[in-house]
Amino acid sequence: MDVVSPELVKSGLETHFIGQRIIHFLSHGSTMAAARQEARRGAAEGTVVIAEEQTAGKGRAKRVWLSPRGSVALSIVLYPDISRLPYLIMVASLAAARSIEALTGLKTQLKWPNDVLIRGKKVCGILIENELRGDRVAWAVIGIGINVNIRMKDFPEIAATATSLHDELGKELSRVEVIRSLLVEMERHYLSLGDGGYIYHEWRGRLITLGKRVRVTSGGNVLEGVAEDVVRDGSLLLRHSDGHLSHVVAGDVTLRDAG
Ligand code: BTN
Repeated sequence: MDVVSPELVKSGLETHFIGQRIIHFLSHGSTMAAARQEARRGAAEGTVVIAEEQTAGKGRAKRVWLSPRGSVALSIVLYPDISRLPYLIMVASLAAARSIEALTGLKTQLKWPNDVLIRGKKVCGILIENELRGDRVAWAVIGIGINVNIRMKDFPEIAATATSLHDELGKELSRVEVIRSLLVEMERHYLSLGDGGYIYHEWRGRLITLGKRVRVTSGGNVLEGVAEDVVRDGSLLLRHSDGHLSHVVAGDVTLRDAG
């Protein structure tokens, strides 16, 4: 199987800083840990850590993220202003959706807060970690995992809810191109954040979750209701059958309606 060469990713990479420094592992526990370590050492903003395979890939809510050879697993080091922190989720999910669409022509959907789906199945997951010092962000790391050239039949434990670009297209894709396009889109969205208004509206407009009956698992609680809206800080407004409204900051959504 091919290996992603950092030189190839960087050649012709049209970014100013994201991906201009790349650390590459053939196999690593989690790129989150490596990027965190880089950030704590003051690595250049935009440093990207890529692993061909992760042996302890981390998902949200302490879940395991499967990232075998053939998938894309990377983490990006950023030092955003604290006002931009809520928008990182939106930047990353839109960048992933846009780059997948541009390279494959496939239509993607976003499920709150930041899953990228194709035909209702997850193809990309995003994990954001950060450390605050007082009212400053010491660092933020955006981890992105995309099922690119993997065959879901080899992973029956997730095949019902996940898909890969290979399975959707019926052919392999260049992972170098996937990464390049992702990094370009990330930087474009990050640099044009402004007050976050544009990115919020784009993200909100693509969420398939809104208006649907959902079940949300959040911090050990299960909430049910209609996903009424999302607010600028990224949280979800959930309308319960008794009319009361919950403000959900983080959680996992299952759509209760078909589709
Ligand atoms: C999720 O949907 O649960 C988030 C998955 C995030 C996976 C990526 S792969 C690259 C980075 N390294 C990790 O260990 N996790 C993130």
